[in-house]
Amino acid sequence: MMLIMSDLLLQIEKMVADAVAELLTVNSADALEQFRIKWLGTHGQMKAAMKLLGQAPKEQKPALGQRLNQAKEQITAEFERKQGAISADLTQAHDYVDVTEPGLRPRLGNRHILMKVVDELTELFGRMGFSVAAGPEVEDEFHNFIALNIPESHPARDPLDNFYLEKWNDPSLVGGMAAPSAGPQPLRLLRTQTSTVQIRVMEQQKPPIRVVIPGRVYRPDTHDATHLSMFHQLEALAVDKDLTMVDLKSAIMQFIHAYFGPETRARFRPSFFPFTEPSAEVDVWFEDRQRWIELGGCGMVHPNVFKACGIDPEQYTGWAFGFGIERIAMRKYGIDDIRHFVENDVRFLSQF
Ligand code: DAH
Repeated sequence: MMLIMSDLLLQIEKMVADAVAELLTVNSADALEQFRIKWLGTHGQMKAAMKLLGQAPKEQKPALGQRLNQAKEQITAEFERKQGAISADLTQAHDYVDVTEPGLRPRLGNRHILMKVVDELTELFGRMGFSVAAGPEVEDEFHNFIALNIPESHPARDPLDNFYLEKWNDPSLVGGMAAPSAGPQPLRLLRTQTSTVQIRVMEQQKPPIRVVIPGRVYRPDTHDATHLSMFHQLEALAVDKDLTMVDLKSAIMQFIHAYFGPETRARFRPSFFPFTEPSAEVDVWFEDRQRWIELGGCGMVHPNVFKACGIDPEQYTGWAFGFGIERIAMRKYGIDDIRHFVENDVRFLSQF
């Protein structure tokens, strides 16, 4: 009889030890529930042990029962302790910070490639002695046309080629060449060229002048791989005594070789602009595409432009150019479509 009792007591001790050991490996609410079902549930180990008690000799029952109750209380207490620990863990999970973990690197934006190119260009011309000037994007016809020696009958003034902000004053006008300035209101438009700022600079500054003007210009062009209705130009203006075409050409070649590399090929083609005489267009050789791409126009400042700004063309000469900044950026960074600049595709933008 004693043997049976000591056997049962041993089994109870072992059961408690097993339950406590198992509880040590429990570390989730789910596992804890499994534990509860296995040990404390209606069909669990404790219930099974209680049933064994029924088979024990009568005189041993009180002692065994007492021990079993203790065991149940012990396991229940351990279970509740663990339950407390796990739920505390869950509620604290949010503000738990492991300072030894590697940090999450936030995604950084970067400057738009065109703005980087503008910085590079103004920095380069800065080293050549040019300061930076700016002017308004909403212009009047004086600065966009008249002062630049573009006569009223010039096709460049056609409403089909300009974003006018006011209606033309001539009621008889049907998209033709009637004089836009005939009425009392000065006509305003989105500037089509940064050459407007040449005028604004010369209105305010006396020679010698050396400025570059980076800025947006607007033209009603159909968008394709080389055209946008808004793009950027880099304008340059130098006014001094005795400046000649040689100064113009050498400054442009100096820029091209410094920016694109000393081997870069460029060519000057005779051209026409109302505000320069003589005028030329500058092409740069695109090695990857095996073709010449036009950077823009240049020339010696026309005497009429000087006169419009109150500068004596007998005393001063000057040269100017206006280049497309997108084209410069495309040549420099191997970009094949001008539309990339405005599509805001991060895969494109993050490359630079
Ligand atoms: N303004 C001209 C254009 O947009 C470009 C240009 C040509 C600018 C000759 C100049 C220049 O300063 O001298 O097509």
